[in-house]
Amino acid sequence: MLSERVALVTGPARGLGQEFAVALAAAGHPVAGLDIADMSETRSRVAAAGGRFRGFSADVTDEEAVNQAVAAAAEAFGGLHIVVNNAGIYPPIEFEKTTLAEWQRIMRLNLDGPFLVSRAALPFLRAAGWGRIVNIASAVVFLGPPDLVAYTTSKAGLIGFTRALATAVGADGITVNAIAPGLTATATATATTGAEGGFERVRALQAVPRTGRPDDLVSTLLYVCGEGSGFLTGQTINVDGGSARH
Ligand SMILES: NC(=O)c1ccc[n+]([C@@H]2O[C@H](COP(=O)([O-])OP(=O)(O)OC[C@H]3O[C@@H](n4cnc5c(N)ncnc54)[C@H](O)[C@@H]3O)[C@@H](O)[C@H]2O)c1
Repeated sequence: MLSERVALVTGPARGLGQEFAVALAAAGHPVAGLDIADMSETRSRVAAAGGRFRGFSADVTDEEAVNQAVAAAAEAFGGLHIVVNNAGIYPPIEFEKTTLAEWQRIMRLNLDGPFLVSRAALPFLRAAGWGRIVNIASAVVFLGPPDLVAYTTSKAGLIGFTRALATAVGADGITVNAIAPGLTATATATATTGAEGGFERVRALQAVPRTGRPDDLVSTLLYVCGEGSGFLTGQTINVDGGSARH
């Protein structure tokens, strides 16, 4: 049964998205990836894990490109069941220096992207009568760091999206949940938020005194996507070593 569930992951070329794509493929799901970057590293890792991966080049903020890529992914694998809205950006910017263009770029990536991808995917999930949409939010919604006002706003919006969409599709066998990772050592996080003592500052807030790794999020993703998780919906699961306790 599990092996028949086809997954789509946005932003799988590197970082958390790559980890999610490899983990879903290793669990038996054919995986389609949507990214603007080269996905060959992910393809190699999935192949090494004995799984199936196909990359579709698409900018998640481009409506036409998303519609075409999602349809092509569903056609390639004969359906679509799991959607992981992972692609996102988190540039640290001092609030009063934030330009409207920067603010809008963050909202486009982090909110328009999940909206466009979920809307394009839903007809396939409905047709299957089973679906899992997982939105990658962030523990910043509970912490509110000062240099990430636009980012925190976008991820709080993604949690609202998760709750309302869960209600809209719950009768169709589709769940919608969010995972809120704490600071996790991807290359992008290391170069931005983690720079200049960021890892140390966040670690001091955590109950578990070590820096988060991409594979720390895998068990939660697989749990939310599991066959037995059909009664779990509209939730935000915080996986951050206990930096936010709520
Ligand atoms: N790493 C962390 O500490 C952390 C913590 C909390 C939440 N998150 C969230 O997790 C997600 C992934 O973070 P990461 O650290 O792995 O980031 P990353 O920069 O390593 O990876 C982002 C991926 O998204 C792709 N992407 C960027 N713009 C795109 C677009 N317009 N269309 C399609 N793909 C696009 C990139 O090419 C890349 O493959 C983001 O949504 C981020 O906000 C990360």
